[in-house]
Amino acid sequence: MAKLMKRKELEQHLQDLDGFSKPKILLEQYETRAHIAACMLHTIESAYGDLRQKTVLDLGCGCSVLGIGSVLLGASYVLGVDIDEEALQISTSNIEQFELYDIDLVQCDIKNLPQILEGKFKFDTVVMNPPFGTKHNKGLDSLFVEIGLQCLSDKGVLYSLHKSSTRDYFHRKAPGWKVEARVLAQLRYDLPATYKFHSKSSVDIEVDFWKFEKK
Ligand SMILES: C[S@@+](CC[C@H](N)C(=O)[O-])C[C@H]1O[C@@H](n2cnc3c(N)ncnc32)[C@H](O)[C@@H]1O
Repeated sequence: MAKLMKRKELEQHLQDLDGFSKPKILLEQYETRAHIAACMLHTIESAYGDLRQKTVLDLGCGCSVLGIGSVLLGASYVLGVDIDEEALQISTSNIEQFELYDIDLVQCDIKNLPQILEGKFKFDTVVMNPPFGTKHNKGLDSLFVEIGLQCLSDKGVLYSLHKSSTRDYFHRKAPGWKVEARVLAQLRYDLPATYKFHSKSSVDIEVDFWKFEKK
């Protein structure tokens, strides 16, 4: 089996990807920074073996930093899903830049994904950095997890990033979703000043890196 790519090398590759050209506030479009994406994905493979030779769903894929990183770490197949056509155009160009053939993209609202997949295709691993649900879309962060869990195979695992302020909420929800939920790490997430209303050049927020495992 080929050696696992080093985290620093992965980060350098992910830095080369194009991000959102005109980010849409209401869709909470900010890409996962390369160092955070590399740290997240490298942990998923090196500590848990959940990427290599696995089928991966990148929910709310944006410009596909997590999906492309998953393939670079050995995923056998990635499906990226996003509601926004422009984001998927950037994804397509990023995927072409890396000459990757194991990634497909679907444009849809995640609400409709289970219906589109018709329960016929289940994934080993879901990776995502969903909207935090703070832009007139309260609860969207939770819905992303619920939909992701529905798309997992029986022994599937979902990895996600959520604001640390919602930690208690997800711990309370986990038993009802029949998952074991664990915060693997707390990260300082430097949200870039993408939008006009941000007065500082970047805003640091505390974000939890979660693992949700089907029981
Ligand atoms: C925080 S961004 C993360 C993008 C990408 N996953 C990354 O890590 O760089 C959230 C993404 O979710 C997408 N999104 C927002 N609402 C959605 C919905 N209802 N269905 C599908 N995608 C959605 C946005 O277009 C955006 O690309």
